[in-house]
Amino acid sequence: LRKIKTDEEDFGLMAYDPGFMNTAACKSRITFIDGDKGILRYRGYPIEQLAEQSDFLEVAYLLYFGELPTRSQLDDFKRTVLSHTIIHEQTKKFIDGFRHDSHPMGAFLSTVAALSTFYREVKNIFDAQNRVIQFERMVAKMPTIAAFCHRHSIGMPFAYPDNDLSYAGNFLNMMFKGTETKFKPNPVLERAMDVLFILHADHEQNCSTTTMRGIGSSHCDPFTALAGAAAALYGPLHGGANEAVLKMLVEIGSKDRVPEFIRRVKAGEGQRLMGFGHRVYKNYDPRAKIIKKVAFEVFEVTGRNPLLDIALELERIALEDDYFVGRKLYPNVDFYSGLIYQAMGFPTEMFPVLFAIPRTPGWLSQWEEQILDPEQRIVRPRQVYLGYDEREYVPMAIRE
Ligand code: ACO
Repeated sequence: LRKIKTDEEDFGLMAYDPGFMNTAACKSRITFIDGDKGILRYRGYPIEQLAEQSDFLEVAYLLYFGELPTRSQLDDFKRTVLSHTIIHEQTKKFIDGFRHDSHPMGAFLSTVAALSTFYREVKNIFDAQNRVIQFERMVAKMPTIAAFCHRHSIGMPFAYPDNDLSYAGNFLNMMFKGTETKFKPNPVLERAMDVLFILHADHEQNCSTTTMRGIGSSHCDPFTALAGAAAALYGPLHGGANEAVLKMLVEIGSKDRVPEFIRRVKAGEGQRLMGFGHRVYKNYDPRAKIIKKVAFEVFEVTGRNPLLDIALELERIALEDDYFVGRKLYPNVDFYSGLIYQAMGFPTEMFPVLFAIPRTPGWLSQWEEQILDPEQRIVRPRQVYLGYDEREYVPMAIRE
């Protein structure tokens, strides 16, 4: 903190808070986290109850509209969303234009940004009805764009949406459909996908949501802001941790090598224990508990992922070790999610995309809350300037 302004030349009071560790940039009614107690709630509803009893589109509705829908509201919402799953042929050509081996996340977020050129009315951000249409459109199209980007990156023909299927089932269809006439998702995997989507739907003011709000604060359209949020998720510190967990498990190689790996983590000789620890949760991440249960259900269908035994042994040893317990380091959402995705057949490059699809309703709900909040202004933090004081320009001829 600098001292309070004492004369005209002085800046006054200013907080220096890199990473905004102690700065609330907004007031929000969407998601509540109590990191010490391991609590996560969307609009007041505990994540455990939503994961158990709800489905992803109902959660998307809840996040955006603020209340659980009635049966007819939910039916209407689902019908509308599913009617928007197809993407414009020109968007498909746009995806076709990426290099044959493009990273699906790079292709995904670029395509999302391009959508604002297909739906020009998206710029009318202060028209409430128009915002609802764009919300439904975006929630609907994300799985299609994601699956098309994946199939393009592996040289497979696109599989079109099948709107007889559920949201999650349709995504699995577009990802994994082969030569069969009609793809039938395995119900256990379909439900697992849906639960994972619910768990990732919002997480208050994380890096990508802050980016969404930052871009949105200039009153940019939501497609473009959403592409920016997805770009923030592309970074390994945010959307890439589950991939890092898999790499770590492969490197460890077998259960009997876990104690030596833990010793090196504690001695600071190697990497951190990936999938452990969280900036906010200083207790077990409530999402990790649910994901662990889902992992066992999925492995019943796909066969046990051989890396699971290493993960279980890591968790067992870490939870009995003073180093981890004393620092409040527990498994986070990423510890088991990568194992599940891998067992279901998703390549690791798709992991950040699998995060972006379900985070879409969260990002859009946060964006809407922000643009309707009369206290919000364009994001414009200050800085502590450490550069030169005024200097005289030196002509090229006399520079040393
Ligand atoms: N393994 C070993 N030690 C750790 C770990 C870990 N995973 N995480 C933190 N520590 C230790 C630190 O070395 C530090 O020890 P010290 O006090 O002796 O120096 C102490 O715990 C506190 O660590 P910080 O880095 O200050 O904790 P912070 O809250 O800033 O970091 C983070 C949180 C980045 C998630 C961290 O725990 C980490 O790197 N975890 C591994 C990566 C990971 O799983 N990321 C996914 C997060 S969830 C998500 O983004 C969706």
